[in-house]
Amino acid sequence: MNYEKSRNFADFLDQQDGLSEYREQFNYPKDSSGKELIYFCGNSLGLQPKTVSSYLEKELSVWAEKGVIGQETRWIAFHERLEKSTAKLVGALPSEVVVMNALTVNIHFLLVSFYQPNEKRYKIMIEKDAFPSDHYAIQSQIRFHGYDPEQALVELVPRKDEKILRNDDILSSIQDHGDQLSLIYLGGVNYYTGQAFDMGEISKAGKAQGAIVGFNLAHSVGNLPLRLHDWDIDFSAWCTYKYLCAGPGSPSGVFIHERHHDWDGPRFLGWWGHNKDSRFQMPSVFDPILTSEGWQVSNAPVMGMAPLLASMEIYDKVGMNAIRSKGKELSSYMEYLIKEYIAEVDIITPKARGCQLSIVVPGGKDVFDYLSRQGVVCDWRNPDVIRVAPHPLFNTFTEVFEFVKILKKAIA
Ligand SMILES: Cc1ncc(COP(=O)(O)O)c(C=O)c1O
Repeated sequence: MNYEKSRNFADFLDQQDGLSEYREQFNYPKDSSGKELIYFCGNSLGLQPKTVSSYLEKELSVWAEKGVIGQETRWIAFHERLEKSTAKLVGALPSEVVVMNALTVNIHFLLVSFYQPNEKRYKIMIEKDAFPSDHYAIQSQIRFHGYDPEQALVELVPRKDEKILRNDDILSSIQDHGDQLSLIYLGGVNYYTGQAFDMGEISKAGKAQGAIVGFNLAHSVGNLPLRLHDWDIDFSAWCTYKYLCAGPGSPSGVFIHERHHDWDGPRFLGWWGHNKDSRFQMPSVFDPILTSEGWQVSNAPVMGMAPLLASMEIYDKVGMNAIRSKGKELSSYMEYLIKEYIAEVDIITPKARGCQLSIVVPGGKDVFDYLSRQGVVCDWRNPDVIRVAPHPLFNTFTEVFEFVKILKKAIA
């Protein structure tokens, strides 16, 4: 689209916005005087859908009125209600997804199965600036198997004086480490730079070298359309409290490709992964569910899942194409306005991205603090980035315009 610099044009974009009605479906935060904030932190914690309280109240009242009968009649299969919508969201078969645990917990469970190093093939490829929890999980798994991260970790770094990774460099690094590569584990979208990786191509290149390919999709799910099954990804996990708006600490989603479902390799077990027909006969010998559910360990955290049901209802209705299309416009429009109005800002996020822009500004943290005082909610990530992520379901183009005005003032 050809954008224009005027405030009227922002109004025009809002009038054209097919998703504008959805803002009303979220509780939008205000400052102490009652003025709405500019909430650009959907990449960290999405806002609360207004339907969440009724979803929670329903489960609270079943618990109050029925006690354990609620477990027998309703909660045993509670997580299954998320299966269809989650599969649609990430481009998977329903049997390939399950919602359980928290993100880093799931990463560990998945690595127990999918990182099986041997003397020849023991390396894990990761972004050097991956989220710290990913580094900790990966490094501890490497040590757990008796290897040294110094030797086993292949960290992808941008070229000198560049801030983002080149796709060709990722592919050639995969080739260079070839048959020593046990696992490729990247973010679908890097949390710091906002760069989206070509998951299909990376998966193909990894497979060609005989590596397992897994993705952390914390910053991709609900942000970009995904085709995990077709891209032949082996496994992935994501949190649901960011773009998916399911609330602080809400449970994580997991994808395991169907070709692994008849799994006889290592796996940490729990009763919720056991065959549903015989689970309550209380056998001591494990008989796995032959889907991603076989990796479940514990029964579902119903009170954490109820808000996710509420938000997935919205995602399911709107669909990822419409969400992506607005997310792309929001970030492109913001990029356009920043370039038009504030030459000093360095936008490090490339065009391959979701709706987050990571910017480096003169004044750094002082500018961020000024933005916060002016009612802009975004975040600061050391050493020098402000992450700004408008959300397609509850932000407007006018807010983007206002944000750029405030940013200009902050830098001045
Ligand atoms: C990329 C990435 N990995 C891991 C985590 C850790 O998530 P959790 O605390 O749910 O384990 C986050 C949280 O923001 C994240 O963004």
